[in-house]
Order: sequence, then C-alpha cells, then structure tokens
Amino acid sequence: MDDQMITSLRQALEISPDNVPLKLHLAQVLHQANRLEEAEKEYTELLRLTNDDKPKIGLARVFFAQGAYSKCNVILEQLLDNSSDLDLLLLHSRALLREKRIADAIEVYEQVLEIQPHFQDEELDKALRVAGTILADDEADFAGHSIQRPLVTFQDVGGMDAVKKEIELKIIKPLLHPDLYKAYGKKIGGGILLYGPPGCGKTFIARATAGQVNAQFISVGLNDILDMWIGNSEKNLHQIFEIARQNTPCVLFIDEIDALGASRSDMKQSAGRHLINQFLLELDGVDYNNEGILIIGATNTPWHLDTAFRRPGRFDRIIFIPPPDESARASILRLKLANKPVASIDYEAIAKKLEHYSGADIEAVIDLAIEEKLDAAFTSGIPEPLSTKDLLQAAKKHKASTQEWFSKAKNFALFANEGGLYDDILSYMKIKK
Ligand SMILES: Nc1ncnc2c1ncn2[C@@H]1O[C@H](COP(=O)(O)OP(=O)(O)OP(=O)(O)O)[C@@H](O)[C@H]1O
Ligand SMILES: [Mg+2]
Repeated sequence: MDDQMITSLRQALEISPDNVPLKLHLAQVLHQANRLEEAEKEYTELLRLTNDDKPKIGLARVFFAQGAYSKCNVILEQLLDNSSDLDLLLLHSRALLREKRIADAIEVYEQVLEIQPHFQDEELDKALRVAGTILADDEADFAGHSIQRPLVTFQDVGGMDAVKKEIELKIIKPLLHPDLYKAYGKKIGGGILLYGPPGCGKTFIARATAGQVNAQFISVGLNDILDMWIGNSEKNLHQIFEIARQNTPCVLFIDEIDALGASRSDMKQSAGRHLINQFLLELDGVDYNNEGILIIGATNTPWHLDTAFRRPGRFDRIIFIPPPDESARASILRLKLANKPVASIDYEAIAKKLEHYSGADIEAVIDLAIEEKLDAAFTSGIPEPLSTKDLLQAAKKHKASTQEWFSKAKNFALFANEGGLYDDILSYMKIKK
C-alpha cells in the first residue's frame, strides 16, 4: 500500500520536481513506512524549496526516529525559539532526555506542564517526575504529586476515634460551614500535622478525610519536590498550592514535612531558608486564598521541623498517630478481612497477640496468611477459608515494625519536649514525666 503510493508520488514528482506539497507528502509517507533515510533526503531537499517549518519538523522527527538526538535537538531549539507548540516541546523533551541532558529535558517538560497541567507521558514522567508513586486508575499525577477523589472514608479507618474527632472539629467543620466560623470571628485556616511511627495510618486517615467530605485528595511528598526539581523548588511549591486552590474543596496532604526541617544542613543555607519562607507564605494564605483547602501535613520526625511551622494559624495542631490499640487492631482486622474468605475468626484473640503492630503490619500478616493458604490449596486442591490459627501463625513470621521508631522518639520526648509537645509519646510508652 505504502510502496504503491510512494511509487506514484515519485512519478508525479518527476513531472513537477518543485511541487512542495507533493514532496512533503512523499516525505511523510516515507517516514511512516519507516524508510527513514529516504524521508531524510526528501525533507533536506525541501529545506531549499521552502521556508515553511514543516520540513524542519519532519526532519526533526526523522532524526529522532534514527536515534540522531543531537541533530534533532538542534532543529527543535531553532523551531521553538518562536513557537511553543506542545508536540514539539514534547519531542524536544524526549530527545533531550535520550541525549542525557536531564536538566534541559526537565525545563522543557515543565513548559509542557505549564501549557497542560494534567499532561501525562510514561517515559517522561518516569524519568523526569518523581518515580515510585503507585497510582490508582482515576489519578492524575504530575511533578511529584497526585490528585484523586478517594473512595475511603472514616469508616474504613479502624480506631483513631480521637483523631477523627479532632479532624472533624479543626478542619472539616470549618470547611463545611465557613460563614458560621466567620460570624464568630474565628479565623479559619492553618492545618494539622500528623506524626508517628511508619505504617500507622497517617496517609490513610488523610485520604479518608478527603473521602469523608467528598473532596479531592492532593498528595505531595516534599522530598520528591525538593530533590527532583533542583533549583525550582519554590516555584513547584507554589504550583502545588495553586493546584490545590484551583481544585477546592480539597485535602492537600503534604508528606515528609520534615524535609523542610531547620536542622537539615541544606536548609540552613539561605536557599533553604527561602524555601521555608515560601512554604509558610503559602500556608498562611495571606497573599493567597486558601479557603476550601484542608492542609494535612505528615512526618515521622517532627523534631526536625522548624518551630516556625507550629505557630498559630499554621500547623497549630500536632497529632500523634500511635500504633493501633487492641480494639483498633481488632477493627482493622475486621476491615481488612471483610472481603476475604474467612472461617469464624476470633478477632479479639488475634488483636491481643499483635501488640505494637502497625496497620501496615497487620496487612502484612494477613497477606502472609493468605499466601500460606494459597500454597496449601495448590497442594491439596481444596481452597480453605482463613482461620484464627492461620493468622496467629502468620503473626509469628512478621514482627511489629514500630519499635525502632519509639526507641528514637523516646529521646526527643524525654529531652526536647518543649511545652509537652511529645507527651503523647511518653504516655503511649507509659513513661512518667
Ligand atoms: N487505622 C487503620 N485502619 C485501617 N487501615 C490502616 C490503619 N492504619 C494503617 N492502615 C493500613 O496500613 C497501610 C499503611 O498506612 P499509612 O500508609 O497510612 O501509614 P503512614 O503512617 O502514612 O506510614 P509512613 O510513615 O510510612 O508514611 C494503609 O494503606 C492502610 O491500609
Ligand atoms: Mg504515609
């Protein structure tokens, strides 16, 4: 089909060799048929026949297909001097990436994202944005953050009654009834900061908060923002808050808040100071309107955080998210086993054995038990439901992962407990002040 077309195009061109549209068409068909050298030749000849951009664009594409990335980039740089065509920017970013000019590739990709904030591209996202975020189907992810409308609500969170109540009072109510708060002259704004050992549900409860009020959930890892876009952190920070402002009502979840810690050596330099200030500026919402945004921060190491973050109107509620207590563990077990094949299970007995286990640990125990069951089912040919015994056995193979965190946290709670900030840690550890 292509061959036939190419032959007839060539015949036509013999009669009128300077017919630009015809020659362009031939070049495109040659490119499509992957006859790259011939396409290159036609496009090169076209450069002499016309000043139009089309042959240049075609040539850039052919060079890209040939793996001649630096030639491709030279042409694109010239073209993009007076154009910001999305396709060309994308091609340029890809070619720069393949040429290993990462910083340049990022810069060009940022231009793409400026034009189309929700743009996604597998190769570019993987190399230039932050790797490692696993995304659900309905999520858009770009520049290290993701937006989604979560399906989980407080019902899916086991235990944490006090935390749920606090979130309800401090951030959900003001979101739902801003006028009432204003009428009483109560300032809305600021956020809450969740801290505690890994896997105990900080991210999960933040997500459920969004689900609870059917708001968007925008999640950012600060380390990613800081590391991936060296030199552009401030701009990105601002961009993220802007995205939140455009997507209200939303929960803006900022993970790894400690990345802005005053004790980090890279935060002591003025660039770091700048970044902290920029963050506080966005958070204060004086220059900008943060109405409709619930800001939830999270960290495993609150002691690294700059104290300026804790002033009123900022993260003025600091909430400890401990490992689940016995009854919370039982309800987490119930929640996570709800859709699994189970025999009659003694949830309380298992919960008793799982002291210090995080929610994530409990999930791991369930996974292990299921794997064992699957193994057994393959050998015996009989799929059997999970039993109490299976879960207790699995618990022996997966130990609680929260202890290490407490051994560190203890020192801060004992020796840097200004204003009783870490009293919750002490009381969880049953240490008397
Ligand atoms: N209280 C809970 N109820 C139900 N599930 C929970 C609970 N706590 C934790 N989980 C489960 O454990 C998983 C891990 O929790 P999550 O990611 O929220 O922990 P985290 O505190 O954010 O940890 P990290 O500090 O490592 O970020 C969640 O995806 C959730 O399924
Ligand atoms: Mg988390």
